[in-house]
Amino acid sequence: MGSSSNKPELLKNGKRLDGRDFNELRELKIEAGILKNADGSAYLEWGNNKVLAAVYGPKEAVPKHFADPTKAVIKCRYAMAPFSSLEDHGRTGPNRRAIEISKVAKEAFENVIILNDYPGAQIDIFMEILQSDGGTRAAGITAAAVALANAGIHMRDLIYSVSVGRIGEHMAIDVNKIEDNYSDADMPVAISPRNNELLLLQMDGGLTKKQYEESMVMILEAGKKIHEVQRKALEDYYSINKKNTEQE
Ligand code: CDP
Repeated sequence: MGSSSNKPELLKNGKRLDGRDFNELRELKIEAGILKNADGSAYLEWGNNKVLAAVYGPKEAVPKHFADPTKAVIKCRYAMAPFSSLEDHGRTGPNRRAIEISKVAKEAFENVIILNDYPGAQIDIFMEILQSDGGTRAAGITAAAVALANAGIHMRDLIYSVSVGRIGEHMAIDVNKIEDNYSDADMPVAISPRNNELLLLQMDGGLTKKQYEESMVMILEAGKKIHEVQRKALEDYYSINKKNTEQE
């Protein structure tokens, strides 16, 4: 996030620099169940972002005093690999930004995981950013939702996340790094598609009410596509595994 006085042009001939339309997502690919040792996992590529998500649990909460006898406790870790961008990462553990993203993601997931189904248990969610190009928190949450479903964790919904940015008067979905860094505003959200409930909303910069409404229309439209890719990843995983079990 942030802006600079030496702001580069983000539009060329009315199009975004990577040639996308304002309502066009970057290419999104998700594969579920790729880590053998995790209870659930997903690998995601979204534009130039590459993310690995892993879920462990439900398991007995440790330390014991950490447990809640009425419901599961969620631990969530977002981390950028030291090699994920040209910027320096990970030499001194999680920075303020990573702690903040871990916290908002945890709160989004606590709203959809049926916590009371797992009294005394702990569920760990890891989002590892292997390569970053803007929108990594959205990519992390979108991947982790698939990993949670892959772990069989009871949830009310399969949530997704995406960012929208404002480039001058134009709203642009799924901003990449240069757009994120130099746009006039950017707003990552996480949404439960069942009822379009907002589970996370952050904002850097400002939007008018009209621009916000326009963004929400764009987000919900993009969300249908994102949700479809998430659903397909799970469907592929279970149909391949069903075939393998039948052959055994
Ligand atoms: O990744 P996201 O858009 O959720 O977060 P951001 O804080 O708005 O950062 C935008 C982009 O800047 C990230 O996706 C990274 O590509 C880059 N970035 C980085 O490389 N190192 C950081 N410490 C922060 C951001």
